[in-house]
Amino acid sequence: MVAAGVLISGAGTNLQAIIDQIAAGRLACTLRVVISNRAGAPGIARAVRAGVPVRVIDHRAFARREDFDRALLDVLREAGAELVLLAGFDRLITRTLIDAFPLRIMNIHPGLLPAFKGLDAQGAAQSYGVKIAGATVHFVDEQTDHGPIILQGAVPIGPDDTEAEVHDRILAVEHEIYPAAIQFFAEGRLEVEDRRVRVRGPRPAVTASLVSW
Ligand code: GAR
Repeated sequence: MVAAGVLISGAGTNLQAIIDQIAAGRLACTLRVVISNRAGAPGIARAVRAGVPVRVIDHRAFARREDFDRALLDVLREAGAELVLLAGFDRLITRTLIDAFPLRIMNIHPGLLPAFKGLDAQGAAQSYGVKIAGATVHFVDEQTDHGPIILQGAVPIGPDDTEAEVHDRILAVEHEIYPAAIQFFAEGRLEVEDRRVRVRGPRPAVTASLVSW
């Protein structure tokens, strides 16, 4: 059972997917705290409904990113988090946090990295005209959307798809692969060698059209 802290900024649908998988007994994880940097984040209500303690830490109250990260770190440590999950968290994190949790911070990104880093990866992929898009779960390092890739899920996109269709299709993959990555971690099955992540043991059943690790 891994103790996790989740950082959110918005809707919190990935947080919800994690909560649901825990409730279904399919994820050996306990959520010790959810931290939002935005007081109005709808994801906060999801944590409250699930009985997870919530803290709001507004990044605007801190002069430097490192000071904000120090505040996050204090709360995560106090909560006993061993793993930190970025789930739609809209701030860049610094060495202050990364060094405290080496290969213990995961992020979900709505693109097939290393393509389409940064904001609105779904829109960027669609405008570029790619035929396959998707999502990536990776460990976080000091560069944005860069750390070792744990798993990726792909979906087809076509020229006539609406923005909302593409967004929702990718989000559905996110909701499947993020809990899967956390479960791998909880089972101690992830081995990292430089950038390469190996998942030891059997493949779990997945329903997304293409998921690979
Ligand atoms: C998700 O699509 C997530 O991949 C993305 O923000 C959304 C959050 O949704 N994250 C990033 O773009 C980080 N670079 P959620 O709040 O409903 O989980």
